[in-house]
Amino acid sequence: MRNAKEAMADGGHLRIEVSRSGDGQVCLALADSGPGIAPENLANIFEPFFSTKAKGTGLGLALVQQIVSEHGGRIEVDCPPGGGTRFTILLPAAKSLAPGAETGPAPGTGSALAGT
Ligand SMILES: Nc1ncnc2c1ncn2[C@@H]1O[C@H](COP(=O)(O)OP(=O)(O)OP(=O)(O)O)[C@@H](O)[C@H]1O
Ligand SMILES: [Mg+2]
Repeated sequence: MRNAKEAMADGGHLRIEVSRSGDGQVCLALADSGPGIAPENLANIFEPFFSTKAKGTGLGLALVQQIVSEHGGRIEVDCPPGGGTRFTILLPAAKSLAPGAETGPAPGTGSALAGT
């Protein structure tokens, strides 16, 4: 989101979509209406310290990719022909618990506050 804001200094739109795919993944897509990413830079944007900004560290996307990867997901980037940039983060969805299947203590039976 910060990259999108920086790419649209003169204004624009950021569309955020959250959906659940059929194969058990959660999809978070961020599509901005900025200038897009030059083809020669696309392969480098996840590299640590790669930046096209005067004061950029080039660590933003590298860190995001690492965090997403450590959660078992992946991040993809796409620059559509119409302009703009779209990042898609795919993460494994949490397994939903059946009613009554919670693993924690039942309400009122926890011991942490016993006697207080
Ligand atoms: N939404 C975007 N639109 C256009 N270019 C982008 C976008 N997001 C990333 N980039 C390109 O990817 C490069 C790397 O992004 P990254 O977030 O890793 O570092 P940075 O933004 O340059 O620095 P920092 O995150 O430390 O401020 C950017 O310098 C820019 O060239
Ligand atoms: Mg950044």
